[in-house]
Amino acid sequence: MSILIDGKSTAQKCNSILKDSINELVQKGNRHPKLTVIQVGNVPASSLYIRNKMRACERVGILFEHITFEADVTQSELLKTIEQLNHNEIVDGILIQLPLPKHINEDEIISAIAPEKDADGFNPITLGHVMLNTSDIFPGTPKGIVRLLEEYQIPIEGANIVVVGRSNIVGKPVASMLTNKSATVTVCHSKTKNLAEITKRADILIVAIGRANFITKDFVNEKTTIIDVGINKVNDKFCGDVDFENVKDIVHAITPVPGGVGPMTISSLLDNVFKLYTKKIEQ
Ligand code: GUN
Repeated sequence: MSILIDGKSTAQKCNSILKDSINELVQKGNRHPKLTVIQVGNVPASSLYIRNKMRACERVGILFEHITFEADVTQSELLKTIEQLNHNEIVDGILIQLPLPKHINEDEIISAIAPEKDADGFNPITLGHVMLNTSDIFPGTPKGIVRLLEEYQIPIEGANIVVVGRSNIVGKPVASMLTNKSATVTVCHSKTKNLAEITKRADILIVAIGRANFITKDFVNEKTTIIDVGINKVNDKFCGDVDFENVKDIVHAITPVPGGVGPMTISSLLDNVFKLYTKKIEQ
């Protein structure tokens, strides 16, 4: 069996340190940090993710506000709410749970969140700073991946890293962040030719494509560390984009699903809220 990269326990460790930092500031007379989450409609997966975020916030001492809208909410109603939250002094972080219904212009909504309240790190200004290596706020999943690699002392500098998936919230930012850490990064996607030939050369393989059990032993080598970002449901069971059973005895290290990247995404979100909060209370 390869090394199992345990995201659950790493996240617990990070969250416990964060809880102490929040507690220390509150003991000194500061207010608690606060995250506001906006949900549109009631997609079951989104409700589950939001519940997990709420529990995590409560455990570390971040106040949690959940604003819900019917699925037929208008663009202007959403923009108005974001504008109010942007000006609300005691809201440190704003998060719009994605995906949004088709009639909503998602890019405009994400761009409306003030960068100084951008808990998800999805705003184009935040992402620009991520690319330029001038940001201390990072999208949750990419940040969680980097923290996991560091925790398990998987070398990044000079490593051949292959990212499969080019989404704005995982593939593109994680490629930028790892390039900034001096890795040699290749980004692959649905139109990539000879995918297995490229992934087989990876020291670190990051997969975020949303296709259950897609990566098998034909795509890896014995030195590969696999980071599986996928969360898919097959026969009522969660599985990743990587066929875990098929590769687990071959590769160097691997994240499980569940219990790998997922808890680190939430932990990184909490860390973003704390960073936005400390910047505010220090003003
Ligand atoms: N939907 C799936 N993942 C995420 C995430 O990390 N943030 C938000 N806002 N929506 C999501």
